[in-house]
Amino acid sequence: MTTAPAAMLRVLYVDDDPILARLVEKALGRVGIEVSHAEDAASAEALIAAQRFDALVLDHYLPTGTGLDILRRMRAGGGRTPTIYVTGSSEATVAIDALKAGADDYVIKSTGEDFTALLHRAIDQAIVKAELLAAKDRADIETRIARERAEMLLAEVHHRVANSLSMVTSLLRLQASSGASDEVRTALSEAQARIAAISGVHRSLYLGDDVHTVTLDAYLQSMLQDFRKTIPGSIRLTIDACPVKISADRAVSLGIVVSELATNAAKYAWPEGGAGELRVELTEPEPGLARLVVADDGIGSDPEGMALGTGLGQKLIRAMAERLEGSVVQPAVPKGTTVVVSFRV
Ligand SMILES: Nc1ncnc2c1ncn2[C@@H]1O[C@H](COP(=O)(O)OP(=O)(O)O)[C@@H](O)[C@H]1O
Ligand SMILES: [Mg+2]
Repeated sequence: MTTAPAAMLRVLYVDDDPILARLVEKALGRVGIEVSHAEDAASAEALIAAQRFDALVLDHYLPTGTGLDILRRMRAGGGRTPTIYVTGSSEATVAIDALKAGADDYVIKSTGEDFTALLHRAIDQAIVKAELLAAKDRADIETRIARERAEMLLAEVHHRVANSLSMVTSLLRLQASSGASDEVRTALSEAQARIAAISGVHRSLYLGDDVHTVTLDAYLQSMLQDFRKTIPGSIRLTIDACPVKISADRAVSLGIVVSELATNAAKYAWPEGGAGELRVELTEPEPGLARLVVADDGIGSDPEGMALGTGLGQKLIRAMAERLEGSVVQPAVPKGTTVVVSFRV
């Protein structure tokens, strides 16, 4: 048998049988439990409202109504006091109803030693269970607070990284405008575009509702909005992306791919100027598979041909596609250049 806890436990015993009530009071008193007694629902509920009990013991048949009424009203009102239900030996369905209504346990009523012993054990177990649940609730709350704090800090870090990277791109822009040669200017502006693709990921992470994943439609929209400002107005840029979510480092890889492809189109597709269309599309053709299409209607290109510039773009695209565990294909199209990157999400 369990030993009585150090602090006096207080139990409310609800039963219209005064003899049994006194028996319970005595038996539980011997193991350090102070028993209050109520004979009907009204006085029981008045006591429950006025005092704090460590446990309730409810008899089924009361002068008006049953113990279930008390139990249901208490649970409905958010009361979580551990409750033991007392039923007759032939009333299995009452016991089931009581458990469904939120009783922690039930004890079959009899007149004798074993009734009070069983009652005592049931009370102790219900109290231990309630304490464990309360401890778990507290731990859950602490965990949630700690996680929220960590995510707030992480968002703050992404904010700072995004700002610092924006500063780097501003510095590169400044450097490019201060009398550099064409070649240096091109290199600096391509570096700027790549860094902007990365800083955009950090911006998405602190602006989005989840600090761990990037929603690609918002990310691509905002990154290409910035890119749009750097290209001639004669190029019509359209963006059509679905809200696929991927991790931050994969979003960086994808962002660099998009940046390289879009930069190349702006640089090479329309050497004579004139109007052109550049389309960036991200779809999920089947669950778990994403497809990026970057297409222009310019002069077209040979994927095996010699690069006019450094050729770094193709290398980066291959490396980033590999990080995405994706594939890059350049299908033959009647006009312009189309590149399709497929990857798992
Ligand atoms: N959309 C495009 N339209 C026309 N030519 C392109 C296009 N994309 C790439 N190219 C050609 O492919 C070459 C390789 O591109 P890339 O590897 O990015 O090198 P870079 O941009 O340094 O020239 C470019 O030099 C260009 O000739
Ligand atoms: Mg390039």
